[in-house]
Amino acid sequence: MSHSKTKRLVLAALAVVVVGGLTGGYLTGRPIQLEQDTSLLFDLPAEVRASLYYASLAPNSHNTQAWRVQADSERLLLDLDPDRRLAVADPAGREAIISLGAFTENLVRALEAHGYQVTVELDQDVLPVTVRYSGTPHDADAATNAWFTRRHTEKRPMDGPPLTAADQADLTAGLSGAVESVWLPAGGAGFRYATEGAKRAFRAQADDPAGRAEFADWLRLSNAETRQRRDGLPAEQLGITGLTKVMYYLTTSRASATGDSFADQSISQAEAQADGCGAWVLLAAPATPSGLIETGRALESLWLAATAAEIAVHPMSALIELEPNETAQALGLDQAAGQPQMLLCLGRIDGDYGQNAMIRRDIADFVSAG
Ligand SMILES: Cc1cc2nc3c(=O)[nH]c(=O)nc-3n(C[C@H](O)[C@H](O)[C@H](O)COP(=O)(O)O)c2cc1C
Repeated sequence: MSHSKTKRLVLAALAVVVVGGLTGGYLTGRPIQLEQDTSLLFDLPAEVRASLYYASLAPNSHNTQAWRVQADSERLLLDLDPDRRLAVADPAGREAIISLGAFTENLVRALEAHGYQVTVELDQDVLPVTVRYSGTPHDADAATNAWFTRRHTEKRPMDGPPLTAADQADLTAGLSGAVESVWLPAGGAGFRYATEGAKRAFRAQADDPAGRAEFADWLRLSNAETRQRRDGLPAEQLGITGLTKVMYYLTTSRASATGDSFADQSISQAEAQADGCGAWVLLAAPATPSGLIETGRALESLWLAATAAEIAVHPMSALIELEPNETAQALGLDQAAGQPQMLLCLGRIDGDYGQNAMIRRDIADFVSAG
């Protein structure tokens, strides 16, 4: 073969490698989009199946989606899936029940948007939550569904202007009396306590080897793994996008995710987030199953109002998990209100509000005939 022909072949091979690499990088780095399938192996109206999908877009700790539903033509029984519990981060299932409460709130709103009359029955001491539905359904208003798909946990820095008293009134107006909300505006002593406490507790939690191992189990470390599992925390849920996402998937393994350098990066991100909050809000309620379900409903109600007002939300739970009593005392929480259950960093993003990554299982995975 002549010298110039060899050179051409080498250049062509190089071009294939470069173009292939760039295409692969581009495909990996784009936000992943999962197909949704709302079919079931038993009869359930399409409007109820769609509502169950929208319910599953609720916020939930580590995106474990630890809910399961028994469904018939009149009612839906909502309970926890014990196989999806977080033994280290949430040993008593407190956050799992709050997450089920957020699921309940979305489900009620989605069923009502489809024209159903809905009632919720809640026992103070035991699950399940019973959601009864009746009436003739119709297509849901697309705008209602859009709130569920826009709401998301924000991991980008909140560098917009601080929140105001009008924002507070807007976000807390729809909350039921079952849950106490304590608004901590920027500049106040409570705000400083929440900011420093959230950072301190996050650092302590990130130091715990058992917590690191559990967190690493719920990380999804490639698009293929995310497509297969449809739960947990892929790059999108950590606020990692584009080229950084490509590098993150190339360089992170389950073992490295339990190491010091991964923990240090998570700490820096959480500290920047806490320092950028425009306000904090604490939700408090009794630590009973009904108190926690009501907390989850209030959380989602507040969050959907925040989405409509383009106010970003990031729950930062470490302080509540590690120092609940100290936090209650420092913030002057009335004992009758119950215990601190959620701490949320709120703020404005300088730019597009963003939307939910919609990493969720198909409903057939958590709904059975009952
Ligand atoms: C009870 C509860 C506690 C949470 N705690 C945290 C937290 O400490 N840090 C965090 O980044 N996200 C936290 N989240 C947010 C979840 O990680 C998030 O809802 C989940 O990954 C799904 O993502 P999405 O909200 O964008 O749909 C919490 C959510 C719930 C419901």
